[in-house]
Amino acid sequence: MSPAEPSPYKESNIIYSCLDGTEKDLPEISDMIARFLSEPYHVYTYRHFVSKWPTLTILARDSQSSKLLGVVVSNIDDKLPSDMTSAEIDAYKRLRREHPGLSPSAEAESAGGLMNLLQAGAGPEAFGPATTDLALPVAPQLEHRRGYIAMLVVDPEARGLGIGRSLVSRVVENMRAAPGGCDEVVLEAETSNLAALRLYSSLGFQRTKFLSRYYLSTSDAYRLVLSLTDRDLK
Ligand SMILES: CC(C)(COP(=O)(O)OP(=O)(O)OC[C@H]1O[C@@H](n2cnc3c(N)ncnc32)[C@H](O)[C@@H]1OP(=O)(O)O)[C@@H](O)C(=O)NCCC(=O)NCCS
Repeated sequence: MSPAEPSPYKESNIIYSCLDGTEKDLPEISDMIARFLSEPYHVYTYRHFVSKWPTLTILARDSQSSKLLGVVVSNIDDKLPSDMTSAEIDAYKRLRREHPGLSPSAEAESAGGLMNLLQAGAGPEAFGPATTDLALPVAPQLEHRRGYIAMLVVDPEARGLGIGRSLVSRVVENMRAAPGGCDEVVLEAETSNLAALRLYSSLGFQRTKFLSRYYLSTSDAYRLVLSLTDRDLK
């Protein structure tokens, strides 16, 4: 849309919602992404994001027409059982902080085993003797949890109204609020995508890596990272 053509949509009429855990919004989302993003995605990709992380896909709709005007699709990269609660994750983190040298016992060697121990109120004795060179196997996923923004798109007729910024800010807040929280948010953007690079930079994302010929189209990308541990989202 050229600057001479004002958007038919009004910022004050945009409503935001997360997925409700069903697949009812998937056809609209995949249609929008197929039309306006260059990379193709398989339906299984959407199903993974939607079923495991419904609060990390956020939709923007025009309240008058209900038309989908924008969407962000994201997840948290961890290998924990999805039913592990915040309290269990916190218990695990506390245990690791207070007893940094604990080695994994046979029972705690899988994430499921670990969860059983935590649910049973296990203390450090359940995790075997202290050593210096072993860590519990799921520790890296817990201690450095990474949110990943996979797709962001706004309908061309609704660009420039603040929808992109609002979708990203909202999804970052939901990552922070997810069980166990998130330490950073990561994504890739084409080096030529000035709109996306400016949007993310204005929210505090930093370029950490140049990825040569990253996309199927062979174009280059930057990896962008927002740390959630040392500062708040702008
Ligand atoms: C990138 C995209 C999501 C931005 O959505 P949007 O709703 O128009 O963005 P916003 O109105 O929230 O703008 C937020 C900021 O982004 C930047 N921005 C947005 N459009 C821009 C443009 N055309 N040129 C330069 N900067 C732009 C500006 O910094 C803007 O802040 P400002 O208005 O205070 O200057 C949208 O252009 C889009 O869908 N592009 C195609 C898909 C895509 O590239 N997705 C990102 C993949 S990484």
